This record gives sequence, C-alpha cells and structure tokens, in this order.
Amino acid sequence: MSTLAARPLTSLIHRLTLTAGVALTALLGACDNSSSSNANKSAPAATNAPAAKPAASEIVIGHYGSLTGPEATFGRSTDNGIKLAVEEINAAGGVNIGGTSHTIKVISEDTEGKPEKAGTVVTKLITSDKVVCVLGEVASSVTLAGAPVAQQFGVPMITPSSTNPQVTAVGDMISRVCFIDPFQGYACAKFAFSDLKVKKAAILFDQAAAYSVGLKDEFEKNFKQMGGEVVAVEAYTKGESNFNPLLTKIREKNAEILFIPGYYTDVANIAIQARKLGMTMPLLGGDGWDSADLAKNGGAAIEGSFYSNHYAADQPTEEIQSFVKKYKEKFGETPDGLAALGYDAARIFADAATRAGSTNGAKLAAAITSTKGFKGVTGTITINEKRDAVKPAVIVEMKGGKPVFRARVEP
Ligand code: PHE
Repeated sequence: MSTLAARPLTSLIHRLTLTAGVALTALLGACDNSSSSNANKSAPAATNAPAAKPAASEIVIGHYGSLTGPEATFGRSTDNGIKLAVEEINAAGGVNIGGTSHTIKVISEDTEGKPEKAGTVVTKLITSDKVVCVLGEVASSVTLAGAPVAQQFGVPMITPSSTNPQVTAVGDMISRVCFIDPFQGYACAKFAFSDLKVKKAAILFDQAAAYSVGLKDEFEKNFKQMGGEVVAVEAYTKGESNFNPLLTKIREKNAEILFIPGYYTDVANIAIQARKLGMTMPLLGGDGWDSADLAKNGGAAIEGSFYSNHYAADQPTEEIQSFVKKYKEKFGETPDGLAALGYDAARIFADAATRAGSTNGAKLAAAITSTKGFKGVTGTITINEKRDAVKPAVIVEMKGGKPVFRARVEP
C-alpha cells in the first residue's frame, strides 16, 4: 500500500530535520509498530490510542502551513479557510462515521515556509496529536518534504494548493484539490500569447523552489509551442534582495512580457526594482502571487500585471459569493485563493470521511481519491488516477490594488 514502506527507516530520518529528540523517539516507535503489522500501517494513531485522546465523538485533523515568514499569508489564509469549513461542518452535526456523529478539531502547526520544518511538524501531528488526516502545505517544496512522512505513517494528506506534479507522486496517501503546473504553465502561456498577443517573453524564476522551476519549464515549453519566443531566462534564489543585475540583463532583450513564477514577497520586490530600471512591460505570474501583500508591498509597480489563480473573489457565482460573504464576516477581509482552497480541502476531507465511514488511513485515502464532481468554491472537483484535481484556471489582473477577474482557461 505504501510505496515508501520498503524503504529503510534511515532514509526517512534522513529526510527529516528532527530538532527534538521527542519527535525522533515517537517516529522510531511508530515505525516499529507499523513494520511489524504490514497489513495496516494506517491505523497507528486514531484507532488504537489507549488514552482518551481523541474523544470518541471527536476526530482530529492537522494543518501544517506557513503561519509566519515570507509566505505567511499562504498559511494564514489556508488556516482561516479550513477553520471556516470545520465550523460549518460541526454546526451541521459533524461527520457521521459508522452511525455516530463526530465533530472535527483542527490542530495547526507552523512551518515558517521552510521545507526543513515540514518533517518535524507532520511527525508531531501524526504521532502526538493522532490526526487522522493532514491538510497542507501550500508551497510545493514544503509539501514535498512533509508528504513522505504522511505516506510512511499511512495517514492521508490533502494539499489544498501545491501544484508541482511530483507532490502526489510521493504515494497513494497524498492527494490534492488543485490543478497542477503543467496546466498552469499552459494557462499563462495561452493568456500571454492569445489574449495579450505578445510574441517575446522573458522569465525570471526562483531556482530554490520546486514550484517555480516547474512552472518556468511549463510556461517556456508551451509559449514556444504556440509560436512565441523566450528571449531571456534568469534565476534568483528566494529571499534575495537585489534583483538589479538580473533585471538589467533582461532589460536588454526587449521582452514584451516578464513571467515571474515566484511567491508574492519576492515578486513585489522584483516589480519595484524593474519599474525603477524603466521596464514598463506587464508582469505575469502564477498562483504564488496570490496575497493581499502583493499590492500592499508592490504598490503601483504591480498595477496592470496578471497572474493565474484558482478562483477570483469577484466572480459572480452563488458558491463564490456566499463563501466570500461568510469569510468576510468572520475574518474581516476578502478571501484569497488559498482561503478558498483550504475551505474546499477541509470539506472534501469531511465528505470522504463520511463516505468511508471510517478514519482508517487506507479507507480514508481511498475515499478522498474517489472524490467526483464535488461542488467546491474553486470549481467542481474530481480527483483523477494521479490523485490530482482537473479544473479550470482564472487569470486575474491587478487593478486598484486588487485582483480582478480577467479570463478563464479550460483544461
Ligand atoms: N501552487 C504554489 C506551489 O505549489 C502554492 C500556491 C498556491 C500559492 C495557491 C498561492 C496560491 O508552491
């Protein structure tokens, strides 16, 4: 069942940066258990816990995300979306498992946006909090570090928003409710080539992020196939502060658009520095731009630029508008795409747990991955054989400091 089951324990430990001896002890203990009964390594936590934790009428799920750090809005918005969904599910009677209703409790852990934190927090959620399912992370590099742990323990993980194809390839416990980057790269290329009618693009990407490298490749491939030319490809590393040397090189190439598949904090810095260098072309990005902080930090430099995303808060559908209203009432701000995906992921978990009638890892994972036609805020969600969702993307334009719906791209 687990593709990683046969791996030596040392290889798992190698992947984790365990800072606490406690976590290591817990990990060794749990792995010993599961290898002695290979039939069901998913049960570890919930079913045979001797203590009263969790209570029979309560199931616990975990969320790991960047609640602080340069991608803090990713984790916080996701957490808000999850909590809104769980509040609604609990208010409606919780999840019915085998004839008994169970309320859901969420325990959230901060990754600070660092891949090296992921193993530790996912281990903690599974071994000490006894979660039956893990939601997260947002950034693909962080999820790629956390997913092998969930896989090893046989606990399902749903990433609301990691789009790198490798994430769900980790194993059968790992699924997602968002589209993947081969499609997102196509959507960006198609919008640039067909809607904006640009023929020459430059790319500036983050070589330290799996997401950014993958999206760069997919954009480049698709844009060229459509007949466009990629005149410059330059790489930065997350957290860099001086982009002038890279931008100066790009400026010479007279690109009509600059594609930046990065995260919002870096993108705002890049935009400001590009404008100072007199570069006036529109900037284009992927979902990693999606944060209220993009406009807060980037100001005028980001106006008139575009990015692809999972939803737009101004789309006039009933699902979206009722979600936006509820979220605003609770949190006092307009939900971004992460909030919407977190909300959808938590609801898909609850739907799957009800269908599975069980919190057993293997049964729950099977129910999650057989999700079909689920009406989410981010579209209708069907999970395919690779445990990915296939859904349309939207392109938004930054106008007056806000993302405004501009186009929809079908898969
Ligand atoms: N797709 C990004 C990644 O895989 C994360 C992200 C999703 C960021 C949605 C913002 C909005 O790293």
